[in-house]
Amino acid sequence: MNLKTLNICVVALLTGLAVNTTAQAKEPPNMPYVFEKNCFLCHKSPERTGPINIYDMLSRTGNPLHEQYIRSNVRFGLRAMPAFRVSEVSPKGLNAIIDYLKDVAAYRKINREYKPVPAE
Ligand code: HEC
Repeated sequence: MNLKTLNICVVALLTGLAVNTTAQAKEPPNMPYVFEKNCFLCHKSPERTGPINIYDMLSRTGNPLHEQYIRSNVRFGLRAMPAFRVSEVSPKGLNAIIDYLKDVAAYRKINREYKPVPAE
């Protein structure tokens, strides 16, 4: 291997490392206010009344949570969980909640120990 090839290899390696570090150091997603106000009081660690598996997009029993299931839980409630009217959680707010839960689940795949906290 000549010096030029070696240089290219070193640069490629360093770039690879840099990209990887950025992915790991990514900031956790910001909790939308609509989630903090309506959901976080119950879905909180250490676990209160609401399961915290939702932060991994998993059900209490470990099955994948589907977006549509979350939407209908929010609108119709689920046993101890209350239903939310459009005046409490708007359609936009519900979209923000779904996006947030997906983002947290993706973030927690890399940062297992991360516990959701309200935005400052
Ligand atoms: C008063 C407390 C309370 C509030 C507020 C609350 N939840 Fe829940 N949530 C629960 C409880 C309790 C359950 C479990 C119901 C059961 O399985 O018996 C639950 C279940 C769920 C589930 C299904 C988990 C599963 O294992 O099937 C999702 C998703 C969820 N909540 C999302 C939300 C979202 C989003 C909000 C805000 C809009 C919210 N919750 C607000 C108490 C709450």
